[in-house]
Amino acid sequence: MVEIRQATIKDLSAIKVLIKNNDEIVNEDLEALFTVKNPNEEYKMFVAEDDGKVIGFSRVHFYKWNRSAYAINLLVDVGCRRRGVGTLLLKAMEDFAREKEARVLMFDTTVDNVPALNLYLKNGFRVCGYNDKLYESGKTAVYLAKEL
Ligand SMILES: CC(C)(COP(=O)(O)OP(=O)(O)OC[C@H]1O[C@@H](n2cnc3c(N)ncnc32)[C@H](O)[C@@H]1OP(=O)(O)O)[C@@H](O)C(=O)NCCC(=O)NCCS
Repeated sequence: MVEIRQATIKDLSAIKVLIKNNDEIVNEDLEALFTVKNPNEEYKMFVAEDDGKVIGFSRVHFYKWNRSAYAINLLVDVGCRRRGVGTLLLKAMEDFAREKEARVLMFDTTVDNVPALNLYLKNGFRVCGYNDKLYESGKTAVYLAKEL
């Protein structure tokens, strides 16, 4: 049975493996998310655990300046997709955003990421913009938002 819980620093090695297996590079200091407090921003990471194994994670930030929440990461292990885990991780981020009384939850992905776009559209997100300068790959980003 899949359980969603708040991630701890002990989950970082498993999270890094998930990122690497998805051919993504980590440029950020992920440890800092657990050790450094930012007075103007709050962040939360969630992991999906199946029988003690971390099979997915998500990360959301809440920004005080505009009372918005931003989903930074959402990733499910390739062997565990299409079983509703991404939806559960998305709901955990949405719950956090509502807890913080965010106006809106936003997300970006590449225009060709059909699984992510379908997942977000199915959960009430709508396209709110494009940016062709966001990613190093040069692919165009599409922004999605859900008013809370
Ligand atoms: C996007 C991602 C998180 C979805 O996770 P998941 O656990 O497979 O998602 P779910 O099982 O909850 O799927 C929910 C809905 O999303 C859509 N969806 C998911 N995978 C899909 C696919 N391969 N093709 C088309 N639609 C898809 C469907 O509408 C699906 O509902 P359905 O199964 O009833 O048709 C996963 O594919 C992933 O980790 N991708 C790589 C990382 C990524 O692109 N992250 C997001 C952008 S950074």
